[in-house]
Amino acid sequence: MTYQESEYVELTVPKGMYDLNVGQPSPQLLPLELLYSADRTHIKDPTFLQYSTEQGYLSFRRELATFLSVETGDSIVANELLITAGNSSAIHLIGTKIAATHITRPLALVESPTYQWAVNILEVCGFEIRTIPVDKDGIVVEEIERLLLDEKLRPALVFTIPSYQNPTGVSLHAERRQKLIQLADSYGFYILADEAYQLLSFPATQTDSALATEDTTERGVVFTIGTFSKIFAPAIRLGWVQAPPRLIQWLVEHPLLVSGGGMNSVMAGWIEPLLKSGSMRNHLKDLRQELFLRYQHLSRAVGEHLPEVQVITKPSGGYYVWCQLPDQMDSSALYELATQKYKVSFRPGTKCNTSPDYLRLCFAYHTPAEIDKAIELLALAYEEYTKSL
Ligand SMILES: Cc1ncc(COP(=O)(O)O)c(C=O)c1O
Repeated sequence: MTYQESEYVELTVPKGMYDLNVGQPSPQLLPLELLYSADRTHIKDPTFLQYSTEQGYLSFRRELATFLSVETGDSIVANELLITAGNSSAIHLIGTKIAATHITRPLALVESPTYQWAVNILEVCGFEIRTIPVDKDGIVVEEIERLLLDEKLRPALVFTIPSYQNPTGVSLHAERRQKLIQLADSYGFYILADEAYQLLSFPATQTDSALATEDTTERGVVFTIGTFSKIFAPAIRLGWVQAPPRLIQWLVEHPLLVSGGGMNSVMAGWIEPLLKSGSMRNHLKDLRQELFLRYQHLSRAVGEHLPEVQVITKPSGGYYVWCQLPDQMDSSALYELATQKYKVSFRPGTKCNTSPDYLRLCFAYHTPAEIDKAIELLALAYEEYTKSL
């Protein structure tokens, strides 16, 4: 059975626990062999170990641009990319850069529900936070427009997860994408588009374009951030910003990069041959197939064993299914019972910046057979919980 108990992990999943909470790849899908098989003989120059160029070195950015172009069907070039140590670091980098241009406390509009840690990072950057609802078509851009017009709010930043959103699994509708960019251009705010799951479309689904690709404004308003954490391995701490070159050059002046040089260049050098040889693409293809299989198991099992639980969205990619309990039931109370007695866990809505009747189920971590068992156990917990009400 899948578990992770080692000195290396941030989050322990004890043996015997069915964990539908943890939003991480399962250990058996982590490409240890592939990583160690990567050729590193292309690194012959000792200056490779010097402080790296702020944007990330050019040949890696070129390989990454080709990889992203092939995966999305768009044309992405190296000068639209900056290398990061993953999306958490990118949120901090961009957040602090934007916040530094404001004398008074800047406002960030974030989704509800959303990835809670992103909100926490933006708070640390100095932003005041206000939430915008998410429906089946992603962040409700009409509500942003209402706040701009009626309440005269002037946000510095809108944070959104456009594809296979964490936690709802929804993707931002084409018309809303255009409208959001247009509003950002007219009202002078930036969009931070966190694409942690963009490349994880299910096999028959076309991968979304990055919002930054759709930004044709003269000023440049969109920062798309991408990461290898969910498609390869979180510990490599490698990711990218995609944005119009003008915005990339503005970020390059960040003192964090000027002082420390470009981020994580040694790992970029390690990953570069996997991008070049097509191994990363093959790995991603297999992963998408496996995630789809796991999703199908989860969705079937919930329908069969938890018919009263409403599955809110039907994702076409990503890691998550978003559900709602009937009659304002409290998923935090169910969580306590489920984890303590039935050894099955999930993420309550309160940990996703929304109300307690919601819950998030992650299908990435456990095998299909384990997912079946996990939902059976959750159904037993649910039955006991409802009887106790
Ligand atoms: C939406 C979102 N953004 C960022 C992260 C963290 O990404 P990284 O590992 O690249 O810092 C996660 C991880 O769960 C996530 O779901």
